[in-house]
Amino acid sequence: MAERIIGIMGAMPEEIRNINELLTERKEIILGRRTYYTGRLNGVRSVVVVSRIGKVAAAVTITTLILEFGITELIFTGVAGAISPDLEVGDIVIGRRFYQHDMDARPIMKQFEIPLLGVFYFETEESRLQYAQRVVGEFLENKHLHAVVSSEELNRFNIHAPTLHIGDIASGDQFFSDSDKKQRIKKELHSVICVEMEGAAVAQVCFEYHIPFTIIRTISDAADENAGIDFPSFIENVASKYSMEIIKLYFQNLDAQLI
Ligand code: ADE
Repeated sequence: MAERIIGIMGAMPEEIRNINELLTERKEIILGRRTYYTGRLNGVRSVVVVSRIGKVAAAVTITTLILEFGITELIFTGVAGAISPDLEVGDIVIGRRFYQHDMDARPIMKQFEIPLLGVFYFETEESRLQYAQRVVGEFLENKHLHAVVSSEELNRFNIHAPTLHIGDIASGDQFFSDSDKKQRIKKELHSVICVEMEGAAVAQVCFEYHIPFTIIRTISDAADENAGIDFPSFIENVASKYSMEIIKLYFQNLDAQLI
């Protein structure tokens, strides 16, 4: 069996900040205007990279991780805007199915159909969902959350008892900051609970190359007119800490992962 090599990816520097510092035997490789950090995390070969925002940036990065660095699995952490009213800022979503909400080749294909693959979404394996659920569940236990994010920050963002959700995610090259758009996606893709800008691109490439993936998103905003207001501060002060701790726990528990 090939040696396990785990890709760790985020779209913005803040989303995976300092994670490369967890690597031992660390090396830096610059390719396609991105820095890939290789090394070992808890003894497991890993590659850490910031993709930059959007589907194209994410697709080229995951392809490079697979073809140049030979990753055998991927974990992506980042933020998302809430579509479901059940989600609050600070909650965590583990993505099950990934749609591309801006894919529309009508009239030659159905809306949202991924051309020539004959599918409408890409799906995470059940065993990966279960493992991520365990890791995120552990993180959300108060002792972890409060150890990494100060009470002041938690209060500032009204984060009191954040919860874990497993659900469908829609990705596209748009930042949602408009309630009408939010209502439209709710109607068109009923099962989608949050939106972001990379997940479904990563999921498509992973599907095409048979690479298992896990995508974990912290809710940063409600995808409405206020979405941009606290966004920079949220990713800097909250999301970056969530990502770091989730990755640490993910690697600490790997022995228990059933794959
Ligand atoms: N990522 C975080 N918030 C988002 C939003 N409102 N729209 C798209 N991607 C996001």
